[in-house]
Amino acid sequence: MKFFVDSANVDDIKTAKSLGLADGVTTNPTIIMKSGRAQKDVIAEIAGLIEGPVLAEPVCDTTADIVKEGREYAKWASNVVVKIPLTRAGLEAVHVLNAEGIHTALTLIFTPSQALLAAKAGADIICPFVGRLDDISNPGMDLIRDIMALYANYPDIGTEVIVASVRNTNHVLESAFAGADGVTLPFKVVEQMMQHPLTDIGIEKFLADWKKAEQGR
Ligand code: E4P
Repeated sequence: MKFFVDSANVDDIKTAKSLGLADGVTTNPTIIMKSGRAQKDVIAEIAGLIEGPVLAEPVCDTTADIVKEGREYAKWASNVVVKIPLTRAGLEAVHVLNAEGIHTALTLIFTPSQALLAAKAGADIICPFVGRLDDISNPGMDLIRDIMALYANYPDIGTEVIVASVRNTNHVLESAFAGADGVTLPFKVVEQMMQHPLTDIGIEKFLADWKKAEQGR
């Protein structure tokens, strides 16, 4: 299962990489805004840090503009993937960019029908959002199970399902049980996944017993 760091914070990405947890990086305009840096600078730096895909999102809404931006982003590094919201213009842009060998991801996916259209368009990756569905009382993980079941009916679909808007460890685990190709992970969720009180208690006990054994020698 692939872990895409959901951040444009270079320190977080370096930390995730040192833990073997940076198979890719995903960004969006909000994440780039939070980094306080120009999109080109931060994406080019991240693309040099990791070997996997680095998703960068154009902020425009016509096919022509998305294609223009996408062509530009593809020049920044060979592992940059153009991340495009699933709209009619976005689907058209994916067709154009694909034909030029530029990698694409379709994002802001909230229904299995959108996921089907994305696969038909030939997107390399889809990003279905689970947390934002949970926010409006629609179980986000049902979407992932439905998409995985749908894609399983057509083994020639090459589109990877990278679950997005992940907010907690259950989102990660349920994505893994559903067979999703990966998740986009805020670093705080990685930290939550590492922690268990019984692990901390166990370490304390081992250390205390080791000290007692040393004192007895
Ligand atoms: C992923 O592609 C998005 O950038 C991100 O996961 C959205 O997460 P949010 O819904 O918590 O903002």
